[in-house]
Amino acid sequence: MASAHVMKDDPEPVPKMQPAMMMFSSKYWSRRGLSLDSAMFDQQNQNQHQQQRHTRGQMSRRPSFCPINEKPDKEGAEDSGKTVVVFSLKNEVGCLVKALRVFQEKRVNLNHIESRMSRRVPNEVEIFADCSCSKKEFNELLENLKDHVNIVSFNTPEHVWAAEADGEEVPWFPMKISELDQCSHRVLMYGSELDADHPGFKDNVYRQRRKYFVEVAMNYKFGQPIPRIDYTPEEVRTWAVVFRELTKLYPTHACREYLKNLPLLTKHCGYREDNIPQLEDVSMFLRERSGFTVRPVAGYLSPRDFLAGLAFRVFNCTQYVRHSTDPLYTPEPDTCHELLGHVPLLADPKFAQFSQEIGLASLGASDEDVQKLATCYFFTIEFGLCKQDGQLRAYGAGLLSSIGELRHALSDQACVKMFDPRTTCNQECLITTFQDVYFVSESFEEAKEKMREFAKTIKRPFSVYYNPYTQSVDLLKDTRSIEDVVQDLRSDLTTVCDALGKMNTYMGI
Ligand SMILES: [Fe+2]
Repeated sequence: MASAHVMKDDPEPVPKMQPAMMMFSSKYWSRRGLSLDSAMFDQQNQNQHQQQRHTRGQMSRRPSFCPINEKPDKEGAEDSGKTVVVFSLKNEVGCLVKALRVFQEKRVNLNHIESRMSRRVPNEVEIFADCSCSKKEFNELLENLKDHVNIVSFNTPEHVWAAEADGEEVPWFPMKISELDQCSHRVLMYGSELDADHPGFKDNVYRQRRKYFVEVAMNYKFGQPIPRIDYTPEEVRTWAVVFRELTKLYPTHACREYLKNLPLLTKHCGYREDNIPQLEDVSMFLRERSGFTVRPVAGYLSPRDFLAGLAFRVFNCTQYVRHSTDPLYTPEPDTCHELLGHVPLLADPKFAQFSQEIGLASLGASDEDVQKLATCYFFTIEFGLCKQDGQLRAYGAGLLSSIGELRHALSDQACVKMFDPRTTCNQECLITTFQDVYFVSESFEEAKEKMREFAKTIKRPFSVYYNPYTQSVDLLKDTRSIEDVVQDLRSDLTTVCDALGKMNTYMGI
């Protein structure tokens, strides 16, 4: 028995933190405060989408400039016309004073201000300004401000009031696949911000390298090819150790879907000991197999933003490689975890459907329900087991990328229960040790049906329907929107009936 990412001879080493668990770690969860990052991207969401009201339902999208578990100061916002602007300026003496003078001249009251070095433009500083003013004053402010600074994003008082006035408090969520840019850029913690106990904390070369990966991910937008990474020989050596050790275990521990897809990934995407596959190749492969795609991400996303990607069959993947000093351990999800843990299963159509089901259920759900769904995700897509030919096999990526826990989860010492979202959602996700319990499903089809049933208990005033042609979600909340879906289903059923008729005629079935 060994720990999650440690494969050492010591029979009982101290289990180390799982990358998959980190996404739900309270340590990082608590950091989702009103930072300049999260607030800024929230505003981008609002600017771009609040006016795109859901055409059939007039669904409100509540601005959320606050931590996910806190409510905004609704009354304050309505009375004062609170708004936010984020701008960048040169990191020179006097630049900020000039910008702030514009606020004064336009009689715009500043409530709160934050600054940080820009991650987009070298030698620039980004300023987050929370202010109160009328719409007219705000427009005048922007007009004057842009002569001195670069406006990054803003949210006009009108947007705030309009959304609040609808009365519905549904958290913003993407309606079409391109809107995932906002989710994927709303990083809770950048991958370059290493903790003191990270193996690469004191390695400046490694830290610089991690910054490069952050830039690649933050500059990425939907529809672009994923930049190819020129991995260093050291990174390839690290990958090689992980690849070599894990592939020894797969024949006896991985589920059949995994074993079927891994050779295909070798053939089409260069899954080899001496080569780190490129996300662009992986994405194109997955698109053909299951309709999933991947996109680079700079660091930790909130469960809400991460699960939203699954609704559109998009998986957020890191591209960096763990530190070379300990190839079999990583305190966070790295490209070895994504490529070896997640990707082979994402190529399976039934697993893809199951993953999407969790994502769709999360759209517009309450924080409480999103947490339940995140827990179901955790105990299935990250740590799930299935029964095949009378034996337990792993399909969870946290297991399939971790030598120690893969062995443990399939050993006699592990506690295994049947997956049932109603009870699984209350199970504690352990951060620093192996899981107390693992959940087993008979099949992905069965798991999907259970998730569908569970999704009915999610409190939200609408249902969502994924439209694969437009890669968008339709809200089903009135008869007209439901009729449209029924029409689609009717034509699908006609095709099925036709096929059955032909089988009857030509094959005598
Ligand atoms: Fe993961």
